[in-house]
Amino acid sequence: MKVLVVGSGGREHAIVWKLSQSNTVDRIFCAPGNAGISEIAECVDISVNDFDALINFVKHYWIDITIVGPEEPLAKGIVDVFEREGRKIVGPSKIAAQMESSKVFAKEFMKRHRIPTAEYKVFTSHTHAEEYIRMKGAPIVIKAEGLAAGKGVIVANDIDEALNGLKLIMKDKIFGDAGNRVVIEDCLKGEEASYMVFTDGNSILPMASSQDHKRVFDMDQGPNTGGMGAYSPAPVVTSEVEKLILDKIIKPTIFGLKSEKIKFKGILYAGLMIKDGLPNVLEFNCRLGDPETQPIMMRMNNDLLDISLAIADERLDKIIPAWQNNASVCVVLASAGYPGKYEKGKIIKGLDEVKKLKDTVVFHAGTAYVDNNLVTNGGRVLGVTALGENIKLAKEKAYKAIEKIHFEGMHYRKDIADRALNRK
Ligand code: AMP
Ligand code: GLY
Repeated sequence: MKVLVVGSGGREHAIVWKLSQSNTVDRIFCAPGNAGISEIAECVDISVNDFDALINFVKHYWIDITIVGPEEPLAKGIVDVFEREGRKIVGPSKIAAQMESSKVFAKEFMKRHRIPTAEYKVFTSHTHAEEYIRMKGAPIVIKAEGLAAGKGVIVANDIDEALNGLKLIMKDKIFGDAGNRVVIEDCLKGEEASYMVFTDGNSILPMASSQDHKRVFDMDQGPNTGGMGAYSPAPVVTSEVEKLILDKIIKPTIFGLKSEKIKFKGILYAGLMIKDGLPNVLEFNCRLGDPETQPIMMRMNNDLLDISLAIADERLDKIIPAWQNNASVCVVLASAGYPGKYEKGKIIKGLDEVKKLKDTVVFHAGTAYVDNNLVTNGGRVLGVTALGENIKLAKEKAYKAIEKIHFEGMHYRKDIADRALNRK
């Protein structure tokens, strides 16, 4: 079978890597892909939002199924376009993708279906929002309604920070129209975890739990990033907590959408805050997490093509989940300056040495080949991911591998997975 993967990050490299192990996959294409992906798939120079070019490609090459990585094409309706053309694709429709693309839609949905989440109010008026913040006090959380590349959330510790954040979103429009409406919600405390499931709209296939590290510096300092590392499983998600996540959050969401005549197919990702064993939803995403996918794919024994076809054909209940009983840790190596301004084109060295290591895979995010040299081409450059019997051993392997890798300005967190190791 022929598969097209849409996207170009570490998540898409992990998807392609997993597909490349399937016995039924003959050819893998990736649009647009990156240097690492080009070693195991055929990269095609089409943007993730150019639906006409993607459909033409799929028809011309007789692609059997397309898997979409990032949220933007999903929010813009890539699935609707493909399904209209009778092409198999893994991802939610534009309406269903609103669970991620509109925080107002997601919050109102959660309220209707009594899914645990922070108390909130929605504002279109800056003045009213300001009054509400003064009335509620800090800490308080301000969220631009629309997609903002993971940066549209301000967790304000005092009123000034909150009012300044509100101004940036609603008046200065730093996220453009994504900030026309804001959600202002109570600040939740606890431990964060990511919980993702595959779903065909009728049945649910849970993935292993994971935890992301959003801040750029050790000890969760500095600005938020797309994610500086992740590990799986997340010990905070005990079997009791997992049952609550499924019963109180995932099932009511999928079946609640269905009851509203919205079929959610693809991946539902719940960003959670867990306190005293009780999970609350911080956000929903309608796609795989990045970098959570990297450790998760390393622990998954199922054939990703089988799962993808089962989602598209709505027979996911036939798939039996198979996970390795070990742990995986992914550490992101980033360019100097990330998540702010950064330079590209720095030569990357040492990956051949890492290839010799057992249980260690380097997933590429922002990389390219220029004049036969592997160079940096983005903020997040590589995700060094290792498997071990437990989190401690997986972490040690990942950091051992990093010692062999170098590019100018390379920086990374030294404390990925410590949160799991230091739990009481
Ligand atoms: P989101 O994009 O909604 O997940 O928000 C990004 C990050 O902001 C989350 O991963 C949390 O660290 C933080 N966050 C979001 N909502 C809340 C909240 N209600 N309380 C505390 N932290 C939050
Ligand atoms: N790692 C967080 C996300 O993918 O949204």
